[in-house]
Amino acid sequence: MLRTPLLLAARSTGCRTLVERMPLTKGLVDRFVAGSTLEEALPAVRELTEDRYVTLDYLGEDVTDEAQAAATVTAYTRLLGELGHAGLAGRAEVSVKLSAVGQFLPADGEKIALDNARRICEAAAAVGTTVTLDMEDHTTVDSTLGILRELRVDFPWVGAVLQAYLRRTEADCRDLAHAGSRVRLCKGAYDEPASVAYRDKAEVDRSYVRCAKILMNGEGYPMIASHDPRMIAIAGRLAEDAGRSPEDYEHQMLYGIRDAEQVRLAAEGRRMRVYVPYGDEWYGYFMRRLAERPANLVFFLRALAPK
Ligand code: FDA
Repeated sequence: MLRTPLLLAARSTGCRTLVERMPLTKGLVDRFVAGSTLEEALPAVRELTEDRYVTLDYLGEDVTDEAQAAATVTAYTRLLGELGHAGLAGRAEVSVKLSAVGQFLPADGEKIALDNARRICEAAAAVGTTVTLDMEDHTTVDSTLGILRELRVDFPWVGAVLQAYLRRTEADCRDLAHAGSRVRLCKGAYDEPASVAYRDKAEVDRSYVRCAKILMNGEGYPMIASHDPRMIAIAGRLAEDAGRSPEDYEHQMLYGIRDAEQVRLAAEGRRMRVYVPYGDEWYGYFMRRLAERPANLVFFLRALAPK
């Protein structure tokens, strides 16, 4: 019931100003965000990579001018340089939102995003790591998959996220289940209309299983991005049935969510990657995390209540 209003608030500048000004917000944001600068985030990355893998996200989305998009590229190239320098590139990659590198700028947005993503891929190649393209709302899917295709000509290791709540995703999984392909399968975090998305949790879960089955039985590298114990167990069984060893796929979770389960899976010998966001532009990311779990909202409101 609260999911839709929270996701609408995630895109409202008025709500953003209000939430950002709340004195206790920062402590709660810190649960999901590793720091506002790279220097603050790196110790968490170093610690996580002792038993897990990491993908880093420099927070930001929906940039409105080319200068902001260029600043995002600079942040990623610096981040990748640091990962190389710190010897972490073997265990840490980056995740990029194309709207943060210009995808929706009015003139030539797609071309600008492609050129910018290419620069990030070059920096990743220079240190020997990979890039995965995040997926935003359903209006962006064709454009993102088009840019993925272009990038893969020169950087065949670029991966992408597919969202099981979209009705089209089974077909997209079939298209992307080829050798060399890397697909991160998640449920989906935006408020989508029933015309394009399943809105019932059970339907989303059933779609997730169908998509995971296609990816596990395909020739690519499936990345199971879910905290849901049922999805994790089913993915493990599907991998076994498909004859995949633990190196042939991986589990992924978000920073600050089900940490003990992350540690448990890694200790079991599964490949476990943590999505680590950092930066000042945490508002949209944070609101999507609140929308996923009402208990987080209660926690948030309790912390704001006068003592
Ligand atoms: P579900 O929402 O059913 O949750 C299962 C259980 O996980 C809950 O019962 C709870 O225990 C725990 N949990 C889930 N969310 C929680 C939260 N916020 N706080 C605390 N506990 C929580 N989406 C998208 O649209 N585009 C993208 O590019 C990505 N990228 C991405 C990368 C990675 C690595 C992950 C793990 C997820 C994403 N997502 C995403 C988000 C994804 O679509 C989805 O919204 C969340 O992962 C929640 O869905 P679950 O599969 O975890 O199941």
